[in-house]
Amino acid sequence: MNKPSIPFIIAMTFFMLTGTFGRAQNSLNNKDSVDRKWWKEAVVYQLYPRSFKDDNGDGIGDLKGIISKLDYIKSLGVDVVWLNPIYSSPNDDNGYDVSDYRDIMKDFGTMADFDTLLKGMHARGIKLVMDLVVNHSSDEHEWFKQSRSSRNNPYREYYHWWNAEKGKPPYRYSLFDVNHDAWRYDSLTNAYYLHYFSRKQPDLNWENSKLRQEVYDIMKFWADKGIDGFRLDAFQFAAKDTTFPAFPQGFEKNFTQYYGMQGNLHGYLQEMNNQVLSKYNVMSVAEGAGNTFEDAHNLVDADRNELNMAYAFEGVDIAKPEGYSLLHLKSVFSKWDSAFAAKGWLSVFLANHDQARLVSRFGNDSPQFRALSSKMLTTFLMTMRGTPYYYNGDELGMTNAGFTKIEDYRDVQTLNEYQRQKNLGADLQKYLQRISFESRDNGRTPFQWNSTGNAGFTKGKPWITVNANYKTINAAAQEKDPASTLNYFRRAVKLRKDNLVLVYGKYSLLDKQNPDTYAFTRELNGKKLLVLLNFKDKTATAQTDINLSNAAVLLGNYDRPSKDGTLKPYEAVVYELK
Ligand code: GLC
Ligand code: CA
Repeated sequence: MNKPSIPFIIAMTFFMLTGTFGRAQNSLNNKDSVDRKWWKEAVVYQLYPRSFKDDNGDGIGDLKGIISKLDYIKSLGVDVVWLNPIYSSPNDDNGYDVSDYRDIMKDFGTMADFDTLLKGMHARGIKLVMDLVVNHSSDEHEWFKQSRSSRNNPYREYYHWWNAEKGKPPYRYSLFDVNHDAWRYDSLTNAYYLHYFSRKQPDLNWENSKLRQEVYDIMKFWADKGIDGFRLDAFQFAAKDTTFPAFPQGFEKNFTQYYGMQGNLHGYLQEMNNQVLSKYNVMSVAEGAGNTFEDAHNLVDADRNELNMAYAFEGVDIAKPEGYSLLHLKSVFSKWDSAFAAKGWLSVFLANHDQARLVSRFGNDSPQFRALSSKMLTTFLMTMRGTPYYYNGDELGMTNAGFTKIEDYRDVQTLNEYQRQKNLGADLQKYLQRISFESRDNGRTPFQWNSTGNAGFTKGKPWITVNANYKTINAAAQEKDPASTLNYFRRAVKLRKDNLVLVYGKYSLLDKQNPDTYAFTRELNGKKLLVLLNFKDKTATAQTDINLSNAAVLLGNYDRPSKDGTLKPYEAVVYELK
């Protein structure tokens, strides 16, 4: 090929920068003006590195493993990967306890591996979003070692200490502690330190400007490497009232109301935006979204210069062991959509590494309906307004782990709660029953690559047991089957990427009171799509008043979708209305 001319290069650069390249079919006129951003148009694939692919045979997923699967990730059509923490960590909470923010966890590899990974992603047009875990560090971080060494140490103020001569500090609830007590006594300096999560995750003191500066420097370190965004772990809890007033009894039942969005949190985010986020082409997503729409808006209102995207839990929290009501799910998603219709931006998700599996919680993981219901849920996630976050393995319809013994579990939260139940003399069988539905480990079993030993995840002994169903549910088998959940996911992603109406289009809920089906339209610049989903294991009919006789089927999980709104069990159809 001849060398490209200078004007050609300039034109190409222009197209690439403005994002118009290859998107001609998506071009918008001014009618429904939208504020286009790459992170709004992205499909985020969440990757749990510990369980994705083990390269060196130690049973733990690693960066080289991910590198070996980049072509697979690319083949999904996703364009952003959110990687759970890969920093140095003693792994009390699988990397959410960071001991060095500028180094890679030994289990996962080296900084050279990281650089290769980032390069490999960018070469394939995939962006990388990293977890930023700065509500707390590990107790093995140098800052904490210094901080606990003496009351006069310069790092003392990096954490929250309560001197014991003042008596016991007012009760604070800890999510992961065996006694749910967030204050841990340390005899070395006769003081308590605060940890909202496990006792190996002491909370950082955001009221200290030096600490904040350290965090911004860490962010710059990674942004300078070229990463494309940050997911701010547990960030809504970072600011605290350091006088530690007593909270009313029972506050822990609604602890986010007391812990979330306190003090000068917005000020800290504006400072972070000013010093770091605004200086790079990075996206930022909060974990959680406060307690109200107003909180969520304030986090992501572009005029306030804080974060880009809220990540509200109300939807993902709906599924319970006893089931859930579709009316409830529809009302929650519709409510959040309408609250953000004019301003701000949302994440759309129903699963992540803190939840059991998508299909087991929101669909039906029986052999008869597993694939159908997981395709239906995929259709939902890819057709809502807001940026979809899709958790690795869900594209295969991976199911809950099926663990029956406590020895199978690895998660600090699950194990500490077991210990607590035991201490309380509670019914442990009942607890095992509960965690078989809701433990986070259900979503953390190794990725099922193929039907060879350990699902092709490792040649060694996996850090957590592989799901016994890997011989039937695995990527290799699904690659070969055009009708597999994996290939359906690819089509659904492509549909979203090809239709800006699915990103920006107005959402309208239809047939609101139907307890079995979810029907909605998306509209932009005269283009109108209709999405029909049956959330039940029986035939159901969506009443929409829309004449489907001329509608084109863009996507569906059955061969011949009806034209009258009748939906087979777990059927999903996306129509373009003419
Ligand atoms: C967030 C993470 C979770 C972690 C916790 C403490 O909720 O998603 O995995 O355990 O924060 O860092
Ligand atoms: Ca490994």
